[in-house]
Amino acid sequence: MTEDKAVLTDICIDFRNVRKSFGKLEVLKGITAAIPKGATVAVLGSSGSGKSTLVRCINHLEKLSEGEIQVADAVLGAKGVYRDGRRLSEHKIAHYRTDIGMVFQSFNLFRHLTVLKNLIEAPMGVLRQSRAEATENAMDLLRKVGLPEKADAYPHNLSGGQQQRIAIARSLMMRPSIMLFDEPTSALDPELTGEVLNVVRDLAIGGRTSLIVTHELTFARDVASHVMVLDHGLLTEFGPAAEVFTNPKSARTQRFFQSAGL
Ligand SMILES: Nc1ncnc2c1ncn2[C@@H]1O[C@H](COP(=O)(O)OP(=O)(O)O)[C@@H](O)[C@H]1O
Ligand SMILES: [Mg+2]
Repeated sequence: MTEDKAVLTDICIDFRNVRKSFGKLEVLKGITAAIPKGATVAVLGSSGSGKSTLVRCINHLEKLSEGEIQVADAVLGAKGVYRDGRRLSEHKIAHYRTDIGMVFQSFNLFRHLTVLKNLIEAPMGVLRQSRAEATENAMDLLRKVGLPEKADAYPHNLSGGQQQRIAIARSLMMRPSIMLFDEPTSALDPELTGEVLNVVRDLAIGGRTSLIVTHELTFARDVASHVMVLDHGLLTEFGPAAEVFTNPKSARTQRFFQSAGL
């Protein structure tokens, strides 16, 4: 136990032989990877390779079939979430989840709430921040994502790119130590993609451990410290970005990078 902890001091997310099946379909076939604290990990791979499932497992949105994921001092396994060998209640799991921000392809803003209310709801309800404090933090983040004038707007009056920037700001309101992005720009027109990627790069990942599922390989090469490549549920590449991009192990990844012009 002590040994585990010592080893994990510089590791933020430790995947240990993670397997996940949906019925007979095995989607993750034994993923082992140690993500260092503060890493920015690009998660690459073709559609259906298991990227979303892997990321969702970290956030307890999917239960593992086998193996475990250690996130800080919580160990997520097939039978539940444990800390110091004790199974955590749903309530405690919810508390862990607040330290993990997740941004999806679809923006998931509350449509009936203004931008400001979208941002302050969880910090007031979950972190017990006062309205004044939450509002101050929200305005600060809205300035940082370049949208302070949209505080009183409703989501349907914003472009997709603006909605996604708000969704990122809303996640950051909880000051999570981990940020997960699942194809944050794939629902956007190409001209709106850049503004969202800039926010991801400049703001969301600073000092945090981030996993970014993306098809934007140039972006991945520019921002990622580490790269994971999934192929049919197997981790075919994992390592520092410079290494994986310049010297991928598998011929399939080589072709994948070449076809993207890297
Ligand atoms: N809830 C689910 N039930 C059944 N099959 C699923 C479910 N979620 C994902 N899958 C299947 O798992 C495989 C991997 O999906 P996913 O993790 O979404 O891949 P990716 O994000 O890389 O495109 C796909 O074949 C998908 O159809
Ligand atoms: Mg996906």
